[in-house]
Amino acid sequence: MAQVEQSLRGRKILLIVGGGIAAYKALDLVRRLRERGAQVRAVLTPAGREFVTPLSLASLSGQPVHESLFSLTDETEMGHIELSRSADLVVVAPATADLMAKAANGLANDLASTLLLATDKKVLMAPAMNVRMWLHPATLRNVAQLRADGVLFAGPADGEMACGEFGPGRMSEPLEIVAAVEQALAGETRIPLPGDAATNSSLLKGRRVVITSGPTHEPIDPVRYIANRSSGRQGHAIALAAARAGAHVTLISGPVSIPDPAGVEMRKVETARDMLAAVDAALPADIFIGAAAVADWRVEGAADRKIKKTAAASPSLTLTENPDILAHVAAGTANRPSLVVGFAAETDHLLDHARAKLARKGCDLIVANDVGTGTGVMGGTSNTVHLVSRDGVESWPLLDKDEVARRLVERCAMLLAGSGST
Ligand code: C5P
Repeated sequence: MAQVEQSLRGRKILLIVGGGIAAYKALDLVRRLRERGAQVRAVLTPAGREFVTPLSLASLSGQPVHESLFSLTDETEMGHIELSRSADLVVVAPATADLMAKAANGLANDLASTLLLATDKKVLMAPAMNVRMWLHPATLRNVAQLRADGVLFAGPADGEMACGEFGPGRMSEPLEIVAAVEQALAGETRIPLPGDAATNSSLLKGRRVVITSGPTHEPIDPVRYIANRSSGRQGHAIALAAARAGAHVTLISGPVSIPDPAGVEMRKVETARDMLAAVDAALPADIFIGAAAVADWRVEGAADRKIKKTAAASPSLTLTENPDILAHVAAGTANRPSLVVGFAAETDHLLDHARAKLARKGCDLIVANDVGTGTGVMGGTSNTVHLVSRDGVESWPLLDKDEVARRLVERCAMLLAGSGST
């Protein structure tokens, strides 16, 4: 058998196995994680026990399996707090609708949900459920909440299900989950809490940060608009990371379907012109980060009534350029923030375009990312970015957007300190 690279050597994984037919894949997942050098401790929910046995999990993991919140032996040898924190990463596979609903709402009435609430480590969920359950608004709401809380996801995949239906809801294959585990462990694994002394909660203390996020909607008439695929995930994650670093954050967001991050002042806008006005009103600030995908053009003379379909001709739209918010902020004289950061989402010649943008817009840093077909960055949960400044280019590996946000906030704090701004 070919030697497997020890990519997870010494890493400790707490694996929570929920109740679903996909639980059989959790057994293979344990094997795959261990052959890469990871130590795996398994927690089996009562529903999970209906599908796999504690004995199989214990044999494969080489460790005792935990099942009950009120097990005295466990509490004396290893309490649930310790169990949830001694790991580098908590993986939930399969993550059932029930487990996700509990975690999204902070319930803690059994061992698995208590561990998810008590942990200070990243949590990676591999959902598995019937397609209707996955697409139910309640599940979608819970997933959005979990993402906003920093939970990472692997899958679900599309495909045929044990119940005979077809669609999203199949648990990702063990090796896909292993890849997500490796990616999750590539960055900081500890989730900082506001006020946590061991984290960088004072990195931006007393600083004001203004961030734009999401797309803008440019009306054609009262019911139609021009938009783009931005989800707002990256901008919102930066806002959360900056708030956790102690900053006063104003997040100016176009229309998105993700929850507002905790601890930030929200301003919700529709158009580029609204966004510009909200940015001007939020300044002065120490840092401005333009993560929004602002529409470059709007429709000139948008109709104030719905344009009717006529047999005569299709309407033609005349576009006119929107204000460039980033360039406007960077050019500010009295109100220019000490640090102005822009994004460059490109499909080709990424670094050349980013360097040109840095100069043209007059900002201090450009975060460049490739949004070409197949990258899944636009609307997705991970990102490969390059930091382009006058000093050169620094490329980061593929990271989830929360980790990009955390690192970017750290970098902004360093640059601010280096600029001598007080
Ligand atoms: O020129 P381009 O749209 O590629 O530039 C992207 C950067 O400029 C992003 O940081 C975006 O938020 C910002 N931008 C802006 N106002 C515009 C267009 C882009 O602030 N009208």
